[in-house]
Amino acid sequence: MLPEQEQVNRLAETRRFLVGKTNLMPEIGIILGSGLGGFASLIDEKTVIPYKEIPHFPISTVEGHAGQLVFGKVSGKSVVAMQGRFHYYEGYNMQEVTYPVRVMQVLGATGLIVTNASGGINPAYRPGDLVLIRDHINLMGENPLRGANLSSLGPRFPDLSEAYDLEWRQKVLPLAQELGITPQEGIYAALSGPSYESPAEIRYLRTIGADLVGMSTVPEVIVANHGGMRVLGISCVTNMAAGILPQKLSHAEVIETTERIEKLFVRFMQALLRVL
Ligand code: HPA
Repeated sequence: MLPEQEQVNRLAETRRFLVGKTNLMPEIGIILGSGLGGFASLIDEKTVIPYKEIPHFPISTVEGHAGQLVFGKVSGKSVVAMQGRFHYYEGYNMQEVTYPVRVMQVLGATGLIVTNASGGINPAYRPGDLVLIRDHINLMGENPLRGANLSSLGPRFPDLSEAYDLEWRQKVLPLAQELGITPQEGIYAALSGPSYESPAEIRYLRTIGADLVGMSTVPEVIVANHGGMRVLGISCVTNMAAGILPQKLSHAEVIETTERIEKLFVRFMQALLRVL
């Protein structure tokens, strides 16, 4: 783990590089989950910067992943979107997974929209549902804030009692209805992956109050809260979690569902950016 001063210096260098590439300072950061990267095509006045050009960004390991930051405007708001995120299961450490959120913070973003693909545990859900995340359960076995506290960015012991901003959720839920999306909120449990869960693990998650399960999001949300950013979380239920239905899970189903839902997801994002 890098000492505090080194981390702060790196962030300042990354910031300097990005500020030299675009005049547009983002109000809101967006993390586009697996299969949901198509939203970036909607961004106007784009500046696209591949991760591999950005000083101190983690090196992308996955082939075929876009892996770029897209700065621009959507619904009148200045945004920066991550097309492709860094997953813990790929082998990145928690500091690497959350580095882009820190970068968004030092660029001046005061809000973060995180999106992901998840397995549905709540039996009321269906593959293709978009669910607002109300709260999370961190079962990844690690916390991204472990180690020296970056005191210039946030407190040692940040409060997570409203990790997903209530006011934002209250603004966004009615929009879902207008778009014909069943307005739903749920609790997202994060595990490290990359194997999907066993049916016994899903029964356990259901018992402890989880509605959704996935392998991302929670580290970024913890770091955003540390930095005082408001957070909105949107999960696309791509499949029912293991053992909920008498069928096996496959990555192909996850991809199929995100492809099917993408247009609606994009319209939802467009609409909610207007009201946030
Ligand atoms: N489990 C964990 N992560 C996921 C799932 C799942 O069922 N579906 C999409 N991401």
